Amino acid sequence: MLKLGKISKFYKNPYNQVDVLVNLDLEIQENQIIALRGPSGSGKTTLLNIISGIDNPSSGDIFFNDINVSSYTDYELTMFRKNNLGIIFQFFNLIDDLTTIENISLPLILQNYDKSEAYKKSKRLCHSLNLEHIQDRKTCFLSGGEAQRVAIARALITKPKLILADEPTGNLDKENSQKTINLLINSCRENNASLLMVSHDESLMKEFDKVYYIDSGKLHY
Ligand SMILES: Nc1ncnc2c1ncn2[C@@H]1O[C@H](COP(=O)(O)OP(=O)(O)OP(=O)(O)O)[C@@H](O)[C@H]1O
Ligand SMILES: [Mg+2]
Repeated sequence: MLKLGKISKFYKNPYNQVDVLVNLDLEIQENQIIALRGPSGSGKTTLLNIISGIDNPSSGDIFFNDINVSSYTDYELTMFRKNNLGIIFQFFNLIDDLTTIENISLPLILQNYDKSEAYKKSKRLCHSLNLEHIQDRKTCFLSGGEAQRVAIARALITKPKLILADEPTGNLDKENSQKTINLLINSCRENNASLLMVSHDESLMKEFDKVYYIDSGKLHY
């Protein structure tokens, strides 16, 4: 479904060049559940941002269902993200001035769902993620763990084909981490979606089809 070919990403500064990703290849099949580990600063978030088109690679190609996404315009990339991806950002990126329900409904509203229909779906998801008690609260008043679960709900609400999750359990305790991973994986299995998840916690990776390690700009299996 997703194929990255020889992706490189470097940053030039006045003194030297920082190579973050070096000729990196990656394939994600339909229904595949993949974890990505690696030290801080190894390029995990950069890789996710490049897959989602939020960031451009310095070179290389990205194919999604055999279409070369790397040649998309900004508008096409926005449409591509909206229709195919669910993204759980490392720092949530919730809209703090909106309530939990409003944040979760947003991707549906952007897909032109009727507002009441979108809220109905979001409330159902709030129920299964144990967010009902905070569904009408603005997300600036949530704890880190609660905000993280809202960010997860927002990524799942459109049943996307590929979910990119950047340390989605970084703010959760052990028990809630395992629950959240199970929920993510089950939701992917139910919707025939693939998951690429960044995590540091090896104990959470038992259910994954593949675990990659990123270091020195390359993926190791
Ligand atoms: N605009 C930039 N200019 C220069 N270097 C950058 C820039 N953005 C990111 N980097 C560098 O790229 C490297 C990869 O960053 P990235 O955020 O992808 O790491 P990460 O693996 O997600 O780390 P963490 O586990 O801490 O989240 C880091 O060394 C970072 O300092
Ligand atoms: Mg990161």
